[in-house]
Amino acid sequence: MESQELDKRGRWGSKVVFIFAAAGSAIGLGNIWRFPMMVGLNGGAIFVLVNILAIILIGFTVMLAAFAMGRHTKKNPVGAYNAIKPRSPWKLAGYMGVFGSACILSFYGVVAGWALGYFYKTIGGVFKGDITWQSSDAIFSSFAGRPLEIIFCLFVIIGLTTFVISKGVRAGIERWSKILMPVLFGLIILLAIRAVTLPGAATGLSYYLKPDFSKFNMTVLFFAVGQAFFSLSLGLGTMITYASYLPKSDNLVSSAGWVCFFDSLIAILAGIIIFPTLFATPGITPDKFEASGGLMFQVFPIIISKIPGGYFFGILFFFLILVAALTSTISMLEVPVAYFVDERNWSRKKAALLVGLFCFFLGLPSGLSHGGVDIFTKWNFMKNMDLLFSNIVLALGALIIAIFVGYVWRVKNALKEISFGNPRFKLKPLWVFNIKFLAPVVIIIILIFIRTFAG
Ligand code: PFF
Repeated sequence: MESQELDKRGRWGSKVVFIFAAAGSAIGLGNIWRFPMMVGLNGGAIFVLVNILAIILIGFTVMLAAFAMGRHTKKNPVGAYNAIKPRSPWKLAGYMGVFGSACILSFYGVVAGWALGYFYKTIGGVFKGDITWQSSDAIFSSFAGRPLEIIFCLFVIIGLTTFVISKGVRAGIERWSKILMPVLFGLIILLAIRAVTLPGAATGLSYYLKPDFSKFNMTVLFFAVGQAFFSLSLGLGTMITYASYLPKSDNLVSSAGWVCFFDSLIAILAGIIIFPTLFATPGITPDKFEASGGLMFQVFPIIISKIPGGYFFGILFFFLILVAALTSTISMLEVPVAYFVDERNWSRKKAALLVGLFCFFLGLPSGLSHGGVDIFTKWNFMKNMDLLFSNIVLALGALIIAIFVGYVWRVKNALKEISFGNPRFKLKPLWVFNIKFLAPVVIIIILIFIRTFAG
């Protein structure tokens, strides 16, 4: 019975493939672009430490809850909430995930498009010669402000994502994840080794890895927990959807553990590339990492131009970012597509095409808000989309999952689902405490804190 259902909807080829796919969703611009930016803005190593604690105590907890919901119901987020608590308002959280995923994809696709643009610029030799902060800044501003190029890049990113998703879970996501993730990992290790051998790398490493506890405050906690959700793709139903293609024999605990581990590893390695390189470059300090923009795109060309073999490493780096971004955009599109396939009986192709088009058009104002079109630039469209969806909607979605699994579905039922494939769950008491108390309390504090941020 289970087997027939999975055959109809699709399923993962093996446990390892599921981990690759879920880690592929988690690992993306959040690790390579957003994480180092957050570290730079929030006191260096102390942010790294709090972020790791947030991943272990809250991220892992919520991810396991999402996996249990997904596998138990074998549904998209709307179907999952509805299956466990029929005809109740809880399914609104599922709709929020379906809509939120499409909205995040719209502006995330723009940043992925920047990576595409930088990839072909690097191949074309734009960053050869002596690149200064000023010239790099000028290249970024003129690129991000050129409407046709930005629209073209966004179109290619959303088009590729739509193509992969329309092929379905086995032929599409699985094949790509299997090829792309190991390539990504190899490339990032290579670049990290290169970075720590730069002159002056030690200062950067100590800034990045030696926490200064006096720098801890509520802002650090706020951004560190938010970054954990963003980076682990939690709060929108991505992990519910991915786990819906899993058989009962899979060990959810170890899968969640591996995904959190790989995701943290890549983020930490990304920092090991960025910080030593940053400290080896005159005129740039980490506090210039602004949350708004494309600082990584401004900083990296300088580094490329300064290191031996920079042309080659630059091409590798932007290819790597592109790969990481695509495995995440694929997971974002999968959430609404699974909804339309499961709940509305649309064909996978039709769902992928229509949602892809929606994301493309919604992405236009974001793409044109960096000088392309005055009104969108004035509204700061992309920054506000990011603020609303990445900070508020994700935290709210994670809070709802925690409360729903902790009190509505109830931990005993979730634990029963978790026990298939893992009869002896040693961390059970800790997980129960975290899902019922720690995660909701910390997220509520954070959401209250957002209100003070928003004035
Ligand atoms: N986790 C992805 C990253 O770190 O780039 C971003 C992401 C994917 C966020 C999917 C939210 C989501 F639902």
